[in-house]
Amino acid sequence: MNDNTFHTIPENLEAIELDTENSGFSMSSDRKIGSLLSTLAAAKPDGHFLELGTGTGLATSWLLLGMNQSALLDSVDNDQEVLEIARRHFDRDKRVTFHNCDGGDFITREQPDTYDLIFADAWPGKYSLLDETLALLKVGGIYVIDDMSPQPNWPEGHADKAKHLLGKFNRCSHLKMCRLAWATGIVICCRTE
Ligand SMILES: C[S@@+](CC[C@H](N)C(=O)[O-])C[C@H]1O[C@@H](n2cnc3c(N)ncnc32)[C@H](O)[C@@H]1O
Repeated sequence: MNDNTFHTIPENLEAIELDTENSGFSMSSDRKIGSLLSTLAAAKPDGHFLELGTGTGLATSWLLLGMNQSALLDSVDNDQEVLEIARRHFDRDKRVTFHNCDGGDFITREQPDTYDLIFADAWPGKYSLLDETLALLKVGGIYVIDDMSPQPNWPEGHADKAKHLLGKFNRCSHLKMCRLAWATGIVICCRTE
């Protein structure tokens, strides 16, 4: 099996990848996590989705590919410049709302039991405000993170933070959790109660 073969890719993916490269943005999501997100999104018809850390909109494009027409996506980033790239590529897709604000502020403003899937791809929602973010999931909702295997761009000391985070999930009795040493290292959790 070749896990670099993708069933379908978002129609604007290559254009976003090109804009991403030209912008110099280096924290973008790869196609593997994208294809996983798309598949998970398809499992939640009419779902309400949250992406923390839009970047230039790569994972956004995969989430939208999996979502049906009545599903909704909130995508949050505090960097106006990269968010503009995402906005440009999705200005006609009414399912997505971009929020240019701090992810932590967004998390603390939202109501519990709101989301069917959260892709936490920024510091808030992952390394900070984890409990508050997990509380935003509905029962049966799915929480996804990547970059959990050592990456060349990790700053000194980050490996300890990642290890600590994995330990936290293990102690959450209201989650079922799966670790995938695949792509950049993925954790998928499902809220059970
Ligand atoms: C790993 S990148 C996201 C990549 C993106 N999901 C993709 O598909 O390519 C992390 C993003 O989080 C954003 N970010 C960092 N700190 C943030 C914060 N406190 N609030 C909101 N966004 C933040 C950065 O601007 C960056 O775009």
